[in-house]
Amino acid sequence: MKATAIAHPNVAVVKYWGKRDNVNFLPMNNSISLTVDSLYCKVTVEFSENYDKDFATVNGGAPEQKVMERVLPHLNRIRKLAGIDLCARGAVETNFPIGVGLASSSAGFAALTAAACAAAGLKLNAKELSIISRQGSGSSCRSIYGGWAEWLAGTHSEDSYAVQLARENHWDIRLITAVVSKAARKVDTRGGMEIAKNTSPLYEARLKAVERDLPLVRKAIKDKDFDALGKIAEHEAMLLHATAITSTPPLVYWVPETVRIMQEVLALRSGGLETYFTFDTGANIHLICLPENEKEITLRLKEMPGVLQIHINKPGEGVKLVKEHLF
Ligand code: DP6
Repeated sequence: MKATAIAHPNVAVVKYWGKRDNVNFLPMNNSISLTVDSLYCKVTVEFSENYDKDFATVNGGAPEQKVMERVLPHLNRIRKLAGIDLCARGAVETNFPIGVGLASSSAGFAALTAAACAAAGLKLNAKELSIISRQGSGSSCRSIYGGWAEWLAGTHSEDSYAVQLARENHWDIRLITAVVSKAARKVDTRGGMEIAKNTSPLYEARLKAVERDLPLVRKAIKDKDFDALGKIAEHEAMLLHATAITSTPPLVYWVPETVRIMQEVLALRSGGLETYFTFDTGANIHLICLPENEKEITLRLKEMPGVLQIHINKPGEGVKLVKEHLF
């Protein structure tokens, strides 16, 4: 009763930012994302009668309590589905910092769901995994799939899941992640989206823009229209942060390096180099570009003060089970 899964984070070009049902994790709007390849999260889960409590390690150390507070209800959900009551041992390995706006929960919960369901003996298809994963962390329902995925908001738990819009080999595109901060956020994503939804006067305006943008993004992906995709992705990210900074209390996720990179992207574009930025609830930033511009953009980022790590991502695979366990 042991299984291991690897999943990759996904970065949304139309964002999930607010729930209309906090119990079932139903989102306010459909969202569209790209699963990336170079960032990963590997999770091993074992259910056994040898364990008398649930316990886990994250990158070799003890997990933060708030992580376990999210993981345990999810494990219970899976145990209930499988009709087992065994305790579990878990281990998590990532190649990027967690809880800093790099979509760690999307990869983490997708891998946890696939590993725990397999360890519990559940044989599920992608849609079923997506539904279960969503209830652990919303955005993870998109990391079940490789390439481009859309999370259909749905009306109740059974019709709120992600579908694949295009496979990872559909479009050779790059998402260059610049890590500029590994410091924990003061307000996490879950708290931030609730505050923005309840207090930002711009929240409704953002939802209107999302409805306008969804069909345009689907078309841009289908037609491989880089300009159209980049413009909307960047604007979407700005809309999210517009609601964040106009929340009460204000949520400012950026640091000076984030803004410096945004300005560099704008300067590069006015000099004729097509690249666009996006970010989630953190200081770290992703630059979207075509393969021919990857080298130049990476070089520019390397020259910038405060850039701690650079990850060059291509479209990545969906969650998969692997044989090499972490323990
Ligand atoms: C800003 O999936 O982390 O990254 O469902 O509360 O666990 P919970 O939130 P989470 O939110 C991610 C939001 C986002 C945008 C996105 O990925 O769509």
